[in-house]
Amino acid sequence: MQLNLLALALSVATAEAAYKGFNYGATNGDGSTRVKADFTAQFQTAKGLVGAPGMTSARLYTMIQGGTTNSPIEAIEAAIEEQTTLLLGLWTSGGGIDNEIAALKNSINQYGDDLAKLVVGISVGSEDLYRNSPTGIKAHSGPGMNPDDLVSAIKAVKAAVAGTSLGSSPIGHVDTWNAWTNSSNSAVIDAVDFIGFDTYPFYQTTDDNSIDNAKSLFDEAMQKTKQAAGGKPIWVTESGWPVSGPSEGAAVASIPNAKKFWDQVACSLFDSDINTWWYILQDYPASPSFGVVGQQLTTKPFSTPVTKTAWGVSPSVTGSVSRSAFRTSMTSTPLQLPSASAVGQFNAAARPTGSIFGAVIAAFALAIIV
Ligand SMILES: *[C@@H]1O[C@H](CO)[C@@H](O)[C@H](O)[C@H]1NC(C)=O
Repeated sequence: MQLNLLALALSVATAEAAYKGFNYGATNGDGSTRVKADFTAQFQTAKGLVGAPGMTSARLYTMIQGGTTNSPIEAIEAAIEEQTTLLLGLWTSGGGIDNEIAALKNSINQYGDDLAKLVVGISVGSEDLYRNSPTGIKAHSGPGMNPDDLVSAIKAVKAAVAGTSLGSSPIGHVDTWNAWTNSSNSAVIDAVDFIGFDTYPFYQTTDDNSIDNAKSLFDEAMQKTKQAAGGKPIWVTESGWPVSGPSEGAAVASIPNAKKFWDQVACSLFDSDINTWWYILQDYPASPSFGVVGQQLTTKPFSTPVTKTAWGVSPSVTGSVSRSAFRTSMTSTPLQLPSASAVGQFNAAARPTGSIFGAVIAAFALAIIV
C-alpha cells in the first residue's frame, strides 16, 4: 500500500511538463530567407521573454532550407545549440512532398540523436483542409488538400521515419479547429497520433468575437474539437490575437487586447500543461500583425507598436510576401504568390480580398476538388 502511494507520488512528480513556444516561418520580415543566425536570434529572444518563461519550443512549417532543393532547414542547427525543442513540419500542399521527405531524411542522417532528442513531433501539412474548404477558397488562401491525399502523405512520412532515430516521434497534422470538427475529414483523425489545433477567435465574425468573449470562443472550439478527436491528444499549434491592423467584426487589434488574449488563453494553456505554440514571436510585415514583439527583437512582449513601415519596407514591398511564403520560403512558386489571406480565417466575407492572384489560386483549388 505504501509502495503504491510512493509510486503514485513519483509518477506525479515526474509527469512531463508541456512544451511551449512559438511558430517560426522560414523567411525574415523583409522576405529574405532565414538562416541559422536568424533562427538563433529568434530562439534566444523567445527564451528571454520577460514574464513568459520557458518558451523553449519551436514549431516549423517546412523541413527545407530556403534556396535549396532538400537541404535541412537551418533552424535545426540553431535549435540544437539553443536546446530548443522542435515540432517539425512538412509543407504538403501545392507541390508534392518528395523534397520535404528528402529533407526530413537528410536531417535525420545529418543530426542523428542531437535532433531526435529535441523532436516533440512531426506535422504533415498545415491548414491544408482549411484551404480546401469553401471558406478557404473564398478567402483565396492558396492550394489545399483533400483528406484522402493528406492521409496518403501522413502514411508516406510514417514510412519514411520508420526504423530511424525519429521512428517513435508522434506524427500528426495541423489544421483549423473547424476542419477537425468537419466529419468529412475524419480519416485524417484516424491517421494521426496528435491533432494540431489552430484557432483564431479574432476572425470568428459571425460570433461575438470581442476580446471579452474571446476566451470562451477559444474554449468552445477546443471542446468541439475534443468531441471529434476520438481521444487523440490535442496540441495547440496556432493561436494569437493581432497587435495591430483592421478590426474584424467586434474584434479590435491592439497591443492591450493581444496581451489580454495571451494572459487569458496562453497562460491558462500553460497552466493546464497543454503543448502550445503561439502565433507568433515576430510577424512579417502584415496587417493585421500578430507579433508579440515588434520589428526589433526585444525580450519585452507587447511593448512596441507594430506598423508596416516600422519594418523599414514600403507597403508595396510588404504586399509581396504572403503568409505562405513567410512560413515556407516558397516565394518562387507561382501558387504561393500573394493572396490577401491571413491565418486561420473563418469568415471570408468579412476579410479583405482583391489580390489579382486570388482568383487564379481559387480556380486552381477548385480544380483540385473537381
Ligand atoms: C468538409 O470537409 C470536406 C473534405 O475536406 C470538404 O470538401 C468540405 O468542403 C468541408 N465542408 C466545410 C463546410 O468546410
